[in-house]
Amino acid sequence: MTTLTRTAAFNDDKRRVLEATDIVRLIGEQIALRPKGRELVGLCPFHNDHTPSMCVVPHKQIFHCFSCGAGGDALRFVMDYHKMSFREALQHLADRAGIRLTPWRASPGPAGGEGDQTPRSAMLGANQTACDFFRAILQHEEHGRAAREVIERRGIAPEMVEAFGLGAAPDKWDGLLLTVQKKGLDPAPFRAAGLFKARDDGGVYDAFRNRLMFPIHDQIGRVVGFGGRRIREEDDPKYLNSAESAVFDKGTTLYALHQAAQTIRTSRRAVVVEGYMDAIACHQAGVRNAVATLGTALTVGNARVLRRLCDTVVLLFDGDEAGMKAAERAVEVFFAEPIDVRIATLAPHTDAKDPDELLRREGGREALERVFAAAADPLDLLFARVRSATQGRGLAARSRTIDEFTTRLVALGLSTVEPVRYQLIVRRIAEVAGVDYETIGQSLRQKITRHRARPAAESTGADAPAQPFRADAQAHLLACLMCHPDLWNRLKDEEWELLSPESMAEGPAREVARAMADIRLHEEPTTLGAVLAALDDAEAQRFATRISTMVDHLTGGDPSRLVAHFAERLREAMLQRTIRRPSRAAAERPDGESWMQAVLRQRELRAAVGHDPTRLPRPGG
Ligand code: UTP
Ligand code: MN
Repeated sequence: MTTLTRTAAFNDDKRRVLEATDIVRLIGEQIALRPKGRELVGLCPFHNDHTPSMCVVPHKQIFHCFSCGAGGDALRFVMDYHKMSFREALQHLADRAGIRLTPWRASPGPAGGEGDQTPRSAMLGANQTACDFFRAILQHEEHGRAAREVIERRGIAPEMVEAFGLGAAPDKWDGLLLTVQKKGLDPAPFRAAGLFKARDDGGVYDAFRNRLMFPIHDQIGRVVGFGGRRIREEDDPKYLNSAESAVFDKGTTLYALHQAAQTIRTSRRAVVVEGYMDAIACHQAGVRNAVATLGTALTVGNARVLRRLCDTVVLLFDGDEAGMKAAERAVEVFFAEPIDVRIATLAPHTDAKDPDELLRREGGREALERVFAAAADPLDLLFARVRSATQGRGLAARSRTIDEFTTRLVALGLSTVEPVRYQLIVRRIAEVAGVDYETIGQSLRQKITRHRARPAAESTGADAPAQPFRADAQAHLLACLMCHPDLWNRLKDEEWELLSPESMAEGPAREVARAMADIRLHEEPTTLGAVLAALDDAEAQRFATRISTMVDHLTGGDPSRLVAHFAERLREAMLQRTIRRPSRAAAERPDGESWMQAVLRQRELRAAVGHDPTRLPRPGG
């Protein structure tokens, strides 16, 4: 057995950290959860979820998605959600709980199994070092003066400078570089994170020079990138941003989300603005649920991060032409997302160029409230556009416009919007087109069918739900033993073998059985929590979570139903084993049953059961 080599699985640190972590709080900080029976449900972050299919089970301290099968304990969630290694996730949870981990002996060989690329953790470390450096420079008598003047001129309060970690890149080619050299740090992660650029002679130089620096954090506060605003008007570009990297994905990162997340969760509403300065100005004015896009158009990725946190997103766009364009695009991005979106534009309510400018004016805060109050449903904007395109046009032109419009809606995911909203949309199209509801409905259905029949390559395969999950009798037994470890005592001698790792199909079931055997060797109860802690493999953790959640739901968490389920599945598994191994079973028959009798009996069994184990009769239907 591999028991001794696996004692790391019982690592005291891991247990202490998991015991000190409340998974509901942990996940609830990233995803809005609602109570449902003994559990909580929310939108699954591991696939494109439209109905809440992820449940968090407090009494088991696990999460599980019924749709994509993701699942595990708090550590698994942190590893998958924040893309952390096991060690990083353990450290993160330990920090949260105020636990000191036993010092870690770095394993020999290449770091972290992340191939020959710079590990994410090293890049995050480089960003943090740079962030500290920029902040120190901002305080520097000489090198920080120009940036401090910008801050002063823009009216950014000291609390905001602190809360957003603003800094200054000095007007030098080697400011950060000298610091890195002085500290004896490896420059490679700084290059990978876009903080250094390569010189022709093989050396490197500072990428950010003479700029007001805005660190960009992920949701848990790690610095993933920077935006740097020019200090001299003649420098270009106005904002220099970190390039995308292994730690910086512009499509899913929102500026100020770290600072805004809590308010977004509690108010169930987020405000999205276009610029760094605008986000800070909003926070300073008390609009603490404001975040900003990163100089890119709003993406579906942004939308999904927000819709897991709140119910309503207000998109606040600048009054200019670009802002109007961005608003139109956003309407399309959010069209099929199950979240309430409101589009607010500064024009025509104010002539201020952007929220920052508005909020610096007298009465700006009140004016902003009026802008929010006038925010429109994106459907209104969409239909206003079609209406103006069809007004006063001939029948042919009008029907062509409507046709293009409906084709576009189908491509944007019309078939996935909720029924009530769908009906509303159909009604409004009918009204704009001047055609009856039935006709439009029929034409839309045809388009949806055609859209669905497109070649698979065109559709977003990543969003496809996972294969339906089926567990065999042995998996049910494992699950019962995780729900109720005392059931081990009910096993008869000949039944033990059914649960040995060797008798399981190769793959996650065998891993789970092996973990359970280890746990029993340590004379611990084989709870799901213990099994998850003993497993390293994500696939096996997912399997363990899935089967025990399944059995929990089948038996309604009722101990007597669980015992009955266990007995029934035990019978089934024994039966299957007899079928699978005729000769051995026959030879072992204590009552001297002949080979011929055994074969005949098996034939009877096969006829009754078939090859499909799910067709076995179950107790109580
Ligand atoms: P704006 O030009 O509206 O900047 O660009 P701003 O935030 O109002 O800046 P101030 O008030 O003049 O200082 C909006 C956003 O677009 C991105 C930045 O994220 C900026 O906050 N941007 C803009 C860039 O990434 N690069 C640029 O050169 C300009
Ligand atoms: Mn501005």
